[in-house]
Amino acid sequence: MPTYVVTGSNRGIGLEIVRQLTQSPENTVLALVRNLSKDHSSLKSLASEKTHILECDTSSLSSIRDFAKTARSTLGDTKIDYVINNAGVNLSEQNSSLQLAPDDLLDTIKTNVLGPAKLLEFLLQQGLLSENVRVQNMSSTLGSVQMSLSGLGRATGYSISKAALNMLNAHLATDLRKAGLKGAVVIVMCPGWVKTDMGGDGAMLSPEESVAGQLKVLQGLKDEDNGKFFNYRGENVPW
Ligand SMILES: NC(=O)c1ccc[n+]([C@@H]2O[C@H](COP(=O)([O-])OP(=O)(O)OC[C@H]3O[C@@H](n4cnc5c(N)ncnc54)[C@H](OP(=O)(O)O)[C@@H]3O)[C@@H](O)[C@H]2O)c1
Repeated sequence: MPTYVVTGSNRGIGLEIVRQLTQSPENTVLALVRNLSKDHSSLKSLASEKTHILECDTSSLSSIRDFAKTARSTLGDTKIDYVINNAGVNLSEQNSSLQLAPDDLLDTIKTNVLGPAKLLEFLLQQGLLSENVRVQNMSSTLGSVQMSLSGLGRATGYSISKAALNMLNAHLATDLRKAGLKGAVVIVMCPGWVKTDMGGDGAMLSPEESVAGQLKVLQGLKDEDNGKFFNYRGENVPW
């Protein structure tokens, strides 16, 4: 009876993750949205008895802290088996490294790097993470230094934030185990180029295909996978 937390679950890849997870009646899913007062009809249409739509703005420390407390009261003594840090932004998408917009870069890092870190920290503080927790941090090939050497010429702030997320992942792979979660496995995932608001209509993959692959990888993780960078097909991505 696994329990999942998914951030940014109201549209795109996050919504599809919740859709596929709710196909199995044994899954408990905490489906997180930035702002509960907005219309989340697509997400609500998926909700089952074991799906809880909760608020968590991953760019706000107070919102993440409040969510962790709400998760404690929602779950009681039930531990979280899977955390999917999916929420992400790509601000100033067209900017090269010679045109970085300072505020957008900082906001991107806040959502894409600090948010995932603080979510895990606050859930750990609440004693909510299972000893064998699986964590999927949603990265991108744009976060790969090696692949960025081909020179995309845009999305630089996003690319920097995903490279930082990859480094956060490396630290978490050790730190969560040191914190007592002896079987924790933490990975970064590239979902491929997916047809969503962020990926655009020209993307190659449907959310269904990408997410089916991602969940297969996530649910099949072994101890020795801790810290690795996978794509949705389960292949290793170069750092
Ligand atoms: N699509 C691709 O081709 C692709 C490729 C590589 C990596 N990725 C990564 O995959 C993840 C999902 O991407 P996507 O394509 O589904 O993007 P998307 O369609 O733009 O959806 C982004 C999701 O993140 C949420 N979000 C953004 N900022 C948030 C915040 N501060 N607090 C809470 N939620 C927030 C959004 O909520 P709102 O509706 O409230 O804005 C939305 O649910 C991202 O991390 C992205 O970087 C995507």
